[in-house]
Amino acid sequence: MAERRSSGWYGGDDRNSYIHRAWMRRGLPADAFDGERPHIAMANTASDLTPCNAHLNEVSRSVADGIHAAGGIALNLPVVSLGETLVKPTAMLWRNMAAMAIEEMLRANPIDGVVLLGGCDKTIPALLMAAASVDIPAVVVPGGPMLTGTFRGVPLGCGTGVWQLSEEVRAGTLSAAEFRRSESSMIRSRGHCNTMGTASTMGLLAEALGMTLPGIAGTPAPDSRLLEAAHATGVLAVDLVDEDRRPSQVLTRASFLNAIVTLAAIGGSTNAVVHLLAIAGRLGIELTQDDFDRVGSGVPLLVDLQPAGRFLMDDLYRAGGLHAVLNEVRDLLDPAAITVTGRPLVDYLDDARVYDREVIRARAEPLQPEAGIAVLYGNLAPGGAVIKPAAASPELLSHRGPAVVFDSIEDLHARLDDPDLEVTADSVLILRGCGPKGYPGMPEVSNTPLPKKLLEAGVRDMVRICDGRMSGTAYGTVVLHVTPEAAAGGPLAKVRTGDIIVLDVAKRRLDVDLPDDELAARQPSAEAVAAYAAPTRGWEKLYVDTVGPASTGADCDFLIGSSGSQVSRESH
Ligand code: FES
Repeated sequence: MAERRSSGWYGGDDRNSYIHRAWMRRGLPADAFDGERPHIAMANTASDLTPCNAHLNEVSRSVADGIHAAGGIALNLPVVSLGETLVKPTAMLWRNMAAMAIEEMLRANPIDGVVLLGGCDKTIPALLMAAASVDIPAVVVPGGPMLTGTFRGVPLGCGTGVWQLSEEVRAGTLSAAEFRRSESSMIRSRGHCNTMGTASTMGLLAEALGMTLPGIAGTPAPDSRLLEAAHATGVLAVDLVDEDRRPSQVLTRASFLNAIVTLAAIGGSTNAVVHLLAIAGRLGIELTQDDFDRVGSGVPLLVDLQPAGRFLMDDLYRAGGLHAVLNEVRDLLDPAAITVTGRPLVDYLDDARVYDREVIRARAEPLQPEAGIAVLYGNLAPGGAVIKPAAASPELLSHRGPAVVFDSIEDLHARLDDPDLEVTADSVLILRGCGPKGYPGMPEVSNTPLPKKLLEAGVRDMVRICDGRMSGTAYGTVVLHVTPEAAAGGPLAKVRTGDIIVLDVAKRRLDVDLPDDELAARQPSAEAVAAYAAPTRGWEKLYVDTVGPASTGADCDFLIGSSGSQVSRESH
């Protein structure tokens, strides 16, 4: 057996080893320091301010039991947690900071491996980015979705229901009191959002990447089978260290391509594009936005979940879960991609069964024959933009209409419901200044609300274009992640209200109908430029100064890549 990493702290008879051991003796057995038993951290994003992850302390106790049962030493490591609904201005502003802090704590401490406990949208991406950069044996425990709640006798999708009900309030068909009464119906139990939002997507993709105990992803948070799987993950973590199987062996280009196939088949969140690109960037794996279109857009949509469909995550679990979905597209998966167990992902699909064909469609009868993410280019998005056709209105996927431009979120809120706003159902709503730099963190605002007067007239979808992101629980014909963003000088900053916008998803085009020379000669809107944030201190400044475009994962330039598990220098 190779010398354990933790022995670099505890092995030896010198003063430093004494200090390291002595302070850790509290509660640990004497043989904890003899170099036989692996020390495994449980990087835990539980927090009362991240309600989706609040139950992870209970889950981590089962992980710890598993680690101990297998002979390891389990160590609690609370890490930066990001609650999607509470953290302002947007949790995405802090994803890279969380990943950096977790990375440094994994590297700085005497641990041989790590179990990563996450759930809410940014937590699993941040944990995986950190583990990829440090590259010590690591395995994810996804916290799992909440149970389905009902309101007015029908299931209410977490997140998606908020959009639907708030539009009903704006349209005058739901009272404010009823709206408020729906709150506890929507959040019925512990766990993360139960639609196919970003949290559900990233939990399932963690497994598709090979980074979880096979079969765990999608287990509802209150389900006792999650605790069973957490215990088994603790046992697995000890094996993982003994085998010295690291993220760089599991997270290969093949596993990322499997994740892209999975993303399409489940109809997952567009945010996964940014997160997978960022994780791949930590490992130096060549993965581009175009891979999502090339590999994913021919994959059928098989899962009928909200926001685009009908069901919720516990329906998916009941219907057979992720393995049942993957078994339908097995021929599209790379059999060489291994999981943390050392066996290929496809090996685990033999026993997969579909128990409800309404929730998980057969390959021959998909919800849509071609799903995935479409990447658009054109004079409005030279660096690319993405759209999720499965969440869009089919009749709007080819559209030509006049732009109605908003320079910022504040501008949108001030003018959207103005009865005098010149807008029709054919208009294209453009919201700019919301990219990684423009509104630091790239908030989920791209699915702008529709103007009230159009809502009242029965309009429920319009083409919307934005350089920000969209919540995975949202839906509509929304072009997002427009690159370069307006605040970085992208052509989106030059569009004027009344310009004709041409969207053609089949041809993968997004253009403003202007001659090249006229577009080149135009200056960016002064208001759009003014929307550029110029923070003067702290993380926000570091972020804005160093963040890259969405098209490459919106990571900070100084965090891309891997620096490994070696501590930078000894202190004593
Ligand atoms: Fe945490 Fe949706 S708010 S997963």
